[in-house]
Amino acid sequence: MTSLLLALLGLSASTLAAQPSAPKPIPAPMRNLTFGQLNFLHTTDTHGWLAGHLREPSYAADWGDYIAFASHIREKVEADGADLLLIDTGDRIEGNGLYDSSEPKGLYTADIFKQQHIDVLCSGNHELYKKNSSEDEYLITVPNFKGNYLSSNIDIMNPQSGERVPLAPRFKKFITQKQGIRIVAFGFLFDFTQNYNNTIVQPVEETIKEQWFQDAIRDKDVDLFLVIGHVPVQSKEYTDIYKAIRGMHWDTPIQFFGGHQHIRDYAKYDEKAYGLASGRFMETIGFASINGVSTGGKKASISTNPTFTRKYIDNNLWSFYHHTNLNESTFPTQQSKNVSKMIENARHALNLDHIYGCTPQDLWMSRVQYPHNDSIYTWLEKQVLPDILSTGMRANKTGMAIINTGAIRFDIFKGPFTQDTAFMLSPFTSAFRYAKDVPYDKAKQVLEVLNRQMKILAEMPGSGLSASAFLAPPEQLAMDKDIVVDDDNESQVQLPKSDQKPLSLYNDDDSGEPSEPSPSRIPGYTTKDAAGDDGDDTIHSPISYYRVPNCISALIAESSSSSSFSSPSPSPTLGNAVADPQTVDLVYLDFIEPWMEQAFKFVGADVDVKKDTEVFLDGNTLTQVVVRWVEENWKCKDGAE
Ligand SMILES: *[C@@H]1O[C@H](CO)[C@@H](O)[C@H](O)[C@H]1NC(C)=O
Ligand SMILES: *[C@@H]1O[C@H](CO)[C@@H](O)[C@H](O)[C@H]1NC(C)=O
Ligand SMILES: *[C@@H]1O[C@H](CO)[C@@H](O)[C@H](O)[C@H]1NC(C)=O
Ligand SMILES: *[C@@H]1O[C@H](CO)[C@@H](O)[C@H](O)[C@H]1NC(C)=O
Ligand SMILES: *[C@@H]1O[C@H](CO)[C@@H](O)[C@H](O)[C@H]1NC(C)=O
Ligand SMILES: *[C@@H]1O[C@H](CO)[C@@H](O)[C@H](O)[C@H]1NC(C)=O
Ligand SMILES: *[C@@H]1O[C@H](CO)[C@@H](O)[C@H](O)[C@H]1NC(C)=O
Ligand SMILES: *[C@@H]1O[C@H](CO)[C@@H](O)[C@H](O)[C@H]1NC(C)=O
Repeated sequence: MTSLLLALLGLSASTLAAQPSAPKPIPAPMRNLTFGQLNFLHTTDTHGWLAGHLREPSYAADWGDYIAFASHIREKVEADGADLLLIDTGDRIEGNGLYDSSEPKGLYTADIFKQQHIDVLCSGNHELYKKNSSEDEYLITVPNFKGNYLSSNIDIMNPQSGERVPLAPRFKKFITQKQGIRIVAFGFLFDFTQNYNNTIVQPVEETIKEQWFQDAIRDKDVDLFLVIGHVPVQSKEYTDIYKAIRGMHWDTPIQFFGGHQHIRDYAKYDEKAYGLASGRFMETIGFASINGVSTGGKKASISTNPTFTRKYIDNNLWSFYHHTNLNESTFPTQQSKNVSKMIENARHALNLDHIYGCTPQDLWMSRVQYPHNDSIYTWLEKQVLPDILSTGMRANKTGMAIINTGAIRFDIFKGPFTQDTAFMLSPFTSAFRYAKDVPYDKAKQVLEVLNRQMKILAEMPGSGLSASAFLAPPEQLAMDKDIVVDDDNESQVQLPKSDQKPLSLYNDDDSGEPSEPSPSRIPGYTTKDAAGDDGDDTIHSPISYYRVPNCISALIAESSSSSSFSSPSPSPTLGNAVADPQTVDLVYLDFIEPWMEQAFKFVGADVDVKKDTEVFLDGNTLTQVVVRWVEENWKCKDGAE
C-alpha cells in the first residue's frame, strides 16, 4: 500500500526537481544577487541534509537542485567573463538519516555529494569524532575532490601504514579560469579537541607559525587570499589568520568562509577583508562576490578599492528560479535530475519514510520559551524520559536523568513521525550511563553546575571552550556575548541566563524594505550582520528565538508505572512537586560524561565516572528512546498513513 503510493508519487513527480515528497516553494518577495568579477557559492554544516527539508517549503531544494543552480549561475557569470568558485566548509556528515541510518554510515552520501563540483572544501569537527568517519574523509572524500580538499591544520594516522600524514594538502595556489585571478587558499578547522585519537588538530595559533604557512603568505604574486574553514567567522582563530596575512600584505583582498555555529553571519575585518558564514542543514546557500580585484597582477580598472557583497539564499526552487531567471521546465539539468534520483533511491533503500507514529502538534527547540507545552524539551522531560527510562530503573530506586539540550538537533512538525524525523531530531549515537545512589541534593547541584557555572567547566583542562559551546545547540553559541556581531548591539545577550525574552539575532522586523503588497512575507530568517539587514535573499517575517539551558532533567519513577511522577516541575531545577527522594540513580547521556565528571567534583559528590557508573537501558540511545515512546504514544489515526 505504502510502497504503491510512493511509486505513484515518484512517477507523478518525475518531471519536477527536488524530492518527490518535497513541498512546493512558496512565492515570496526577493532581493537580487549582486554579481561581481569573482563570485562564490558556499555551503556549510550540511550534516547529511542532501535531500533538503521535506517538511519546510523554504528549504526544500535538494543537492541535485543545488547542482543545477550552480551550473546556471556559472553559465551566467562566465558569459560576462567573470568567475565562480564553490566552497564547502565541512560538517557534511551526522545529522540526517541519509548519512546516519546506513550501515556503514555514509554509504550513500559521499557519492551524492561528489556530484557537485566544489573548488575548495575542508573538514569540520563532525568528520573527526569517529575513527571511521575521518578515515572515510581520507580514503573517499579527499580523493573525490583531489587537490581541492585542504587541511591546513589536521593530520591523520594513515589507516594503512599507521604513519601520521596531513589529511589533505595544507593549501593551494590556483588561477581562476576566466580572469586569471591568482588565489592562495587555506582550509582550517577551529581549535577542536574532542576528535578521536587517530587525527591530530593543531591549534590555529601554532599552524600559522609553521614555515609552509609563513612562506605561503609571503608569496608576492597573489591577487586574493581565500581562507575557508570550519571556523566561526568571528573567532580568535580567524582574527589570528587575518593578522598574520595582513602582516605580510597590507592591502591584498582576503575572503574568508566559515561555519560551525549554524548561523548566517558576515564579518568585516577591514575594508578589504570579509568573512561569510552560511547557516546549516542545507537551509542556506551563501553567495559572495568581489569586484575590483587585480587579475594576474594587473591592477583592477574598475576602482581602487574592491567591493564585497553577500547574500543568504534560501535553499528552495522559488529562490533558484528567481536568481537564474528560469522556471520549472528550464531549470533542471540532466545531471541535477540524476542526482535527485540518486537521493530518492537512497532514501527508499534506507526506508526513511517508514512511519513510527503521528505527531499531534509542532514541537520547537527555540521558537517558544522553555518550559512550554510546545517545547521539545518540556515534552522530553515531562513525558518521554519519565515513561521510557523508568523501564530501565533498578527496583525501588528513583532516577534522575540529565540530558544536554544540544542532543536535540531539530524541531518536530505535526504529522508523520518517520525514520527520517528520528535521525533529524537526534542523530547521535550517545547512550545512557548511570551512577547509583547519588544524594538527591548533590544530583540537583550537578544540574545547577552544568547550567549556571559554565565558567568552572570552561576551565576544564583541555576543554578550551565553554560548556555551552558543546552542551547547548550550536546555534545558541552565537548569542553568547563574547562572539556576537560587533555592529549588532541588539543581539548582545545582556539578559540573565534565565530570562525568557525573545533574542533578536533572527528577529528584526525593521528591515528597511518597503512592504510589498504581494507576494506576502513568510516567516524565516531576518538576518542582521556586519553589512546590514539586507543579506537574506528572501524578505521574511521574523521568527522568535529563545534561549534554552545547557541541560534539562527529569525525575524517573521507581516503578514501571510513571503515573505518580507525571508532572515533575517544569523548571530545569527540580521543584517540590514530587516527594524528595534521599538518593537517586543519576542517569546521563554518555556524551556529557566529561562535564559530569567535573560537576561531580565541583559539588563534592563521591562519584568516579570511570569506576562508579554503568551502562543504562542496555545501551539504548536517546533516539531509540524517543522512537519507542512515539510508537507507544503517537498512534496514527486510521487513514493517516
Ligand atoms: C531583480 O532582477 C530582475 C531581473 O533579473 C529585475 O527585473 C528586477 O527589477 C530586480 N529587482 C530589484 C529589486 O532590483
Ligand atoms: C567502521 O566501518 C566498518 C566497515 O565499514 C564497520 O564494519 C564498523 O562497524 C565501523 N565501526 C564503527 C565503530 O562504526
Ligand atoms: C586511542 O584510543 C583507543 C581507545 O579508544 C586506545 O585503545 C588507543 O591506545 C589510543 N591510541 C593512542 C595512540 O593513544
Ligand atoms: C518557462 O520558460 C520558457 C522560456 O522562457 C517558456 O517557454 C515556458 O513557457 C516557461 N514554462 C513555464 C512552466 O512557465
Ligand atoms: C545521468 O544518468 C544516466 C543514467 O544513469 C547516465 O547515462 C548519464 O550519463 C547521467 N548524466 C549525467 C549528466 O550525469
Ligand atoms: C500544558 O499541557 C497540560 C497537559 O496537557 C495542560 O494541563 C496545561 O494547561 C497546558 N498549559 C498550557 C500553558 O497550555
Ligand atoms: C521493593 O519494594 C517492595 C515493596 O516495598 C518489596 O516487596 C521488594 O522486596 C523491594 N524490592 C527490592 C529489590 O528491594
Ligand atoms: C549599544 O548598546 C549600548 C548599551 O546597550 C548603547 O548605549 C549604545 O548606544 C548602543 N550603540 C549603538 C551603535 O546602537
